[in-house]
Amino acid sequence: MVGRSGDRENLKTKEVDFMGRLPFIAGNWKMNKTVEETLALVRELKGSLKEIKEVEVAIAPPFTALHAAAQELKGSSIHLASQNLFWEEKGAFTGEISPVMIKECGCQYAIIGHSERRQHFGETDETVNRRIKAALNHGLKVIFCVGETLQEREQGVNFLVVERQIEGGLKDFGELALQNLVIAYEPVWAIGTGKTATPQQAEEVHLFIRQKIRFLFSPKIADELRIQYGGSVTPDNIKGLMEQENIDGALVGGASLNADSFSRIVRFKEM
Ligand code: 13P
Repeated sequence: MVGRSGDRENLKTKEVDFMGRLPFIAGNWKMNKTVEETLALVRELKGSLKEIKEVEVAIAPPFTALHAAAQELKGSSIHLASQNLFWEEKGAFTGEISPVMIKECGCQYAIIGHSERRQHFGETDETVNRRIKAALNHGLKVIFCVGETLQEREQGVNFLVVERQIEGGLKDFGELALQNLVIAYEPVWAIGTGKTATPQQAEEVHLFIRQKIRFLFSPKIADELRIQYGGSVTPDNIKGLMEQENIDGALVGGASLNADSFSRIVRFKEM
C-alpha cells in the first residue's frame, strides 16, 4: 500500500525503515481559513513543498473551502482531507455532508473521530464507527483519531480509553478496511496547549496501538499501519517524535495554518 524505497539517512535506523511505512504529515485546519485565505495558503504550500518526496502530505481545510482547494491543488502531490463526514449518502439530514459530496469535492481522505468532535458535538465510538465505514465504502481513506483527556491520563486509564476507542471505532472491520486507514493518536491534553507529549510518552501509546491492531487484525496489517501523533506539533519537536519507532507522521493543528511552519514540519528529514 505505502511502498517506499528510499533511505532516511537523517533518522536513526529503526524497524520502521524496513516496514516501508511512508511518513504522513497532515494539517488539520479546523475552523480556520475562508476560501480566499485557503487559496493563498495552498499556493504557498505548493511552492514550498514542490520538491517533497518520500513524505505524504495532506491538508484538511473546512468544508466550504475543499472544492476551491482541490482545484488549486491539481497537479500537486498534496492530498486533500475533510475534517468529518456523515454516514448517509443523501437525504433529510440538515447540516450534514455526505461521503459522496466529500469525494466530489476532490478529497482522498476524511479525518474521523477528532477529539473536538467527541467533546463538543457528541461523537461516540459508535458514530465514529459508522462514519469510518461510510468513508471507506465510498473509496475515501480515513485518518481515525483517538486519545485520552488529561483527567483520564491522571487516572491512569489512558491505555484503556485508547483501547476502547479502537475497539469501538473499528468494530466489525476486516483487514481490507485497515489498508486504507491511518490512526492518529492525539492526547487531548496536548491539543492546542503547547504541551506536546514527549517522544517517549507518545511512543509507548503508539506501540500499544500497534500491538492492539496486531491482536485484532494481523501482524502484517499492524506492521503496515501508519500511526500519526497529534498535539502541539511544531518544527522544533517533530524530529524527536519522528525518530520513534512507531511514530509514522503527524496530524498538525495550529502549526499547519502557516506555510513556513507546516513546510518545516514536512521537511523534518532535512533538520
Ligand atoms: P494542535 O497542533 O494545534 O495542538 O492541534 C492538534 C490537532 O488537534 C490536530 O488534529
